[in-house]
Amino acid sequence: MVGLCPFHSEKTPSFNIYPENGSFYCFGCGAGGDVITFMMRIENLDYIDAVRALAQRAGMDMPENNYDNSMRELRRRILEANREAARYYYSVLYSPQGAQGLEYLRSRGLAERTIKHFGLGFSPENRFALTDYLKGKRFKPQELVAANLVYQNKGGNISDRFYNRVMFPIIDLRGNVIAFGGRIMTDQKPKYLNTSDTPVFKKSTNLFSLNFAKNSGKRSLILCEGYMDVIALHQSGFTSAVATLGTALTQEQAMLMKRYADEVYICYDSDEAGQKAAHRAIGLLRDAGVKIRVISIPGAKDPDEFLRENGPKGAEMFSAVLEKSGNDVEYQISKLRKKYVLTDSAETVDFLRECAAVLAELDDSMEAEVYAGKLAEETGVSKESILRQIATLRKQGAKQIRKREFRKIQSELSGGEYKGAVQNPGNLRAQRAEEALIAYIINNQDMAAKALSLLPPEKMLTPFNQRLYRIITERAQQDRGIMPTDISGEFTVEENGLIAGILAKRSSDITSLQGFEDCIRVILSESERITPENAANTDINDINKYLEKLKEQKK
Ligand code: UTP
Ligand code: MN
Repeated sequence: MVGLCPFHSEKTPSFNIYPENGSFYCFGCGAGGDVITFMMRIENLDYIDAVRALAQRAGMDMPENNYDNSMRELRRRILEANREAARYYYSVLYSPQGAQGLEYLRSRGLAERTIKHFGLGFSPENRFALTDYLKGKRFKPQELVAANLVYQNKGGNISDRFYNRVMFPIIDLRGNVIAFGGRIMTDQKPKYLNTSDTPVFKKSTNLFSLNFAKNSGKRSLILCEGYMDVIALHQSGFTSAVATLGTALTQEQAMLMKRYADEVYICYDSDEAGQKAAHRAIGLLRDAGVKIRVISIPGAKDPDEFLRENGPKGAEMFSAVLEKSGNDVEYQISKLRKKYVLTDSAETVDFLRECAAVLAELDDSMEAEVYAGKLAEETGVSKESILRQIATLRKQGAKQIRKREFRKIQSELSGGEYKGAVQNPGNLRAQRAEEALIAYIINNQDMAAKALSLLPPEKMLTPFNQRLYRIITERAQQDRGIMPTDISGEFTVEENGLIAGILAKRSSDITSLQGFEDCIRVILSESERITPENAANTDINDINKYLEKLKEQKK
């Protein structure tokens, strides 16, 4: 079964589901795995929670215990530490130590209930405040390091990562505190410090305040640049505001927004950097398939400033701005209009050329037609010639896309370029044979014993394949399943993607017993080759034997 990939945006489907082995694989982005991996990716869950969610859906009870839960345990501890840290920062804010922070937040126009709603806080100047506090709560140093709440110096000593900053907890859709942003109260740099990626947090896949915005009751979101913008908007009643976490919008975030919104208002800063970022966001959101409206904030740097400058009227005025906002096409054309002097004929031609380029990007030809009509009226150039220009650009564009897709397929076929998880291409000939053999065994479990008798796992050259082969042959000997879902628990999400990729690409490489034996022969002969890399670990007698054999072959 084929469809559009939910993990990256695309217009032609490259997401495949293989019911015969219960796996999925996207040839576009390399995401793959079994149903559990799918849940882990799409719902951002760990393995056990993904299994639990699936069990619940099927009305089954989930047996507790009997699994390796060290990673899950670490994640749980990190979330606990984060929650304790958030409580701590919040309590400091209302203590004498935090007076400065509270004063700062008030000076920025935040009401008490807003501070509470967002759980804002303050990290004291003392660089051991949180470290000592959490140690007192029996958190281990390595847990705090993993949570990125503390720094560890070369000597192994730990101290607080955040100090003397007002703190913004970042909360996921299930209400967990997954990270923090901390703002310095002066002009020093960096202005904001954010939690780096941890086992519970990836900044490219989360959005600040989506936990609140998803309940706004609308199928729309307001995308801003800053924490303060989001908070100011929520305080003024615009509870659908979200922001990225100190990085440019990603495709994953665009796809995430699409799950909660049919329409996104892009409300970036009015400076040049903001407008550039808006342009990028338009592309990503358009690909994700949401309707876009672009807001230019009149007379202010960002929404927070706009609301504050306009005092009690701010909210009403912002509503008007939202209502007046044009869609992305209108926005791009109006930007071009400002760039050119339209009383000059030469400039008008350039203006129309650039507009045609914008319109050529539209999937909907009716939409292009409407704007072409408007532009014709505005400039006095015939609608037909504008449409002709658009058609020409489209043809060129289509060629480019075809070329890109062709290259992609080509690279797929020539040994596979996995995105996300990459095998090291030590020996492509061996790797390909290994993958073909693995796919064959997974599809024909009864051949595992024979494979193992001919080819011991250590003969595989590619480390991941060796591990995978070891696991499936071992399980097969114990009469346990080796389908993707049987083994997915032993691998990371990325590794499950590799396995799905192997199945998707190599399942038809071996079609006969002859092919099976040939593959094993290839792997054995490749494993016997002595290369400069493995020569160091090879017995001198083996090297001599190998050289003899080469000489033999030459004769
Ligand atoms: P801004 O500087 O526009 O943030 O950066 P802001 O929220 O308007 O800040 P105020 O009003 O001066 O307090 C936008 C976002 O970029 C990230 C933060 O997420 C910030 O909210 N950022 C900015 C950083 O991560 N680090 C920085 O040093 C600066
Ligand atoms: Mn600001």
